[in-house]
Amino acid sequence: MHPSLKLPFLALSTTLLLAACGEPEDTRPGQPVKTRQSAFKEIIRSFEPMGVMLRGNTFNGDKFLAMAYELMARRDAPWGHFAAGTDYPPTKATPEVWLQTEKFERERLAFIAATDALLVAAQTRDRKQLEAPYQAVYQTCQDCHRTFKKR
Ligand code: HEC
Repeated sequence: MHPSLKLPFLALSTTLLLAACGEPEDTRPGQPVKTRQSAFKEIIRSFEPMGVMLRGNTFNGDKFLAMAYELMARRDAPWGHFAAGTDYPPTKATPEVWLQTEKFERERLAFIAATDALLVAAQTRDRKQLEAPYQAVYQTCQDCHRTFKKR
């Protein structure tokens, strides 16, 4: 195929993929569902590469610390967008978010505390001291998702 013909074809297949996915748009004022989902995606964009660094042989203490700070800057963003009445498609949150509000808050605080500990550990720039606190943060993501996020 001529190179110049490739691009429109790619664009078309992307459109088809998105349509097939069938996720409804968040059309409500302020787009609370979309906003909190984007905030979680930002969190994972900081968190994932830290794990890659720990598992592989690319560990760099300064880079890890920078990502820990980035995670701190992003960790508070989703929580203000779970107002009552925001349980609607395309949310992946379970109704439990609005039913078990105390548990949700406990899980949130556990996540905040775990990221505090990760930052303290990251300041040592010592890889050996990072695996446990990284794993502990990951555990708080999982603990919350188990009850409050649809699989
Ligand atoms: C206190 C609860 C809680 C904690 C802690 C938590 N999450 Fe979530 N997460 C949720 C809920 C609820 C949703 C669903 C939001 C929605 O769709 O409305 C979600 C959604 C997500 C999504 C999906 C976003 C999308 O729409 O594609 C990702 C990715 C994610 N979380 C990553 C993480 C990571 C990584 C961590 C830990 C570093 C974490 N979360 C910690 C509750 C939590």
